[in-house]
Amino acid sequence: MELLECFKEKFGAEAEEIYSAAGRVNLIGEHVDYCGGKVLPAALSLKCRVAVRKNGTNFLRVAATDIPARADIDLNATENYKSLKWGNYQAGVADEMKKAGYNLVGCDILYDCTVPFGSGLSSSAAIEVATAYALAKLGGNKIDKSELAVLSKQAENNYCGVNCGIMDQFVSANGKKGHAILLDCVSLEFKCIPLDLDDCVLVLSNCNKPHNLVESKYNERREEVDTALKLLRKSLPELSCLADVQPYQLEERKALLTPLLYRRARHVVSECDRVLKSVEALNAGDLELFGRLLNESHKSLKEDYEVTGRELDALADAAQAFPACLGSRMTGAGFGGCTVSVVKKKCVDDFIGTVGKTYREKIGYDASFYVAETADGIIDEGKAE
Ligand code: GLA
Repeated sequence: MELLECFKEKFGAEAEEIYSAAGRVNLIGEHVDYCGGKVLPAALSLKCRVAVRKNGTNFLRVAATDIPARADIDLNATENYKSLKWGNYQAGVADEMKKAGYNLVGCDILYDCTVPFGSGLSSSAAIEVATAYALAKLGGNKIDKSELAVLSKQAENNYCGVNCGIMDQFVSANGKKGHAILLDCVSLEFKCIPLDLDDCVLVLSNCNKPHNLVESKYNERREEVDTALKLLRKSLPELSCLADVQPYQLEERKALLTPLLYRRARHVVSECDRVLKSVEALNAGDLELFGRLLNESHKSLKEDYEVTGRELDALADAAQAFPACLGSRMTGAGFGGCTVSVVKKKCVDDFIGTVGKTYREKIGYDASFYVAETADGIIDEGKAE
C-alpha cells in the first residue's frame, strides 16, 4: 500500500510531511570509527522514509508499513521503553534528544524502510536518523544534521546496548549523492569525495545470514582494542587513539601486546592506512589500486580482526576470483550482512550469476544482490500530498 494511504489507515488521519534518511555502504575503513580513524562510507538510495504528523498528545506513536508492530511512547517517560522489540530505537532517540534539551511534541510516524533488515547496510541508523530529523523538525528545533547523527548514535549506545561508532548515523544524515564521505571520526569533519567509477559499479551482495550486533562479538572487539590502546600507552603515553599509531610504532611495541591483541591492533593500523590510499586512488581514477585495497581490507578483517565468517568469506572469495571484479570486501560490522564489490558494468549479470551459484553450492542457500546507487542522506520531501 502507498505510504500516505497506509498512514491514514494506521493513524486515522492524514500525514503532514515526508522525510527520509539513508542506508549506507562503507567502502573502506572498517572497525576503525570507534578507534578514532577515518572512514569512507556512502549513503544509499535504500532508505528509511517516514510520513509524519503532529498528534496533539504527549505520545510519540510509531508504526511500520511492512509489519503490524506499533508502539506508543510517552514523551514524559521515554526511559521506560528499552525492552520494546520494535520501537526501542525510536524511544532511544527521543530519550537522547530530550536529555539534550530538544523540544519534543507528540506525533505519529509511519516507517517505510527499504534497507533490508540485518543486511549490514544500516537499517537501524536510517530509522534512528529519520526519527531524529522528524522529532527535531516537528518540535520546531534548529536542525544540525551532524548533531542529530551524534544523538542517534548515543541512542544506540545507551538505549539499545550496541557500542557502535559514529559512521553509520553520520553518513545516513550527511551523505551526498554521487559521493563517498571521508569522515574524521574524532573531529567529525568530513569531505565529499566524488565517486567516479568509470565503467564500473558497486555491487552489494547480501549473504542472507541473519545477524544482530547486540548478540554478535561487536562489543567484544571494542573491548579488545580498548585494552590494546591501554597497553600501548605504557610506552606511548600521549597516544589518544589507536588510529594514531603508525605501523612501525606498532611493530616496535609488539611485545607489549598478546598475539591476539596485536592482530586486532594491526588490523586497525593497516586499515587506516588503506583508507588514505583509497582516497588517493579514487582521486587519481586508479580503480585497480582501489580494488586491491578492498581485497587487502577483507583479508585483514578475516585474519586479524576475525569478523567475517564463512558466508562473507565465500562471497568475497567468489567475487575476487571473478575476472571483471576489481576488488571485494565485507562491509559494515561483519558476522553477516553484505560484501561490496567493484565490478565492470557490462559484466554485472554474469557476476551475479557466477558468484550466486558458487555461494549456493558452498553455503546451501541463496545470496541476494543489489547494484548500489548513492543518494543524499537526509531528504526533506516536505508537505505530504
Ligand atoms: C557497525 C557500526 C559502525 C562501525 C561498523 C564497522 O556498522 O555501527 O559504527 O563500527 O560496524 O566499521
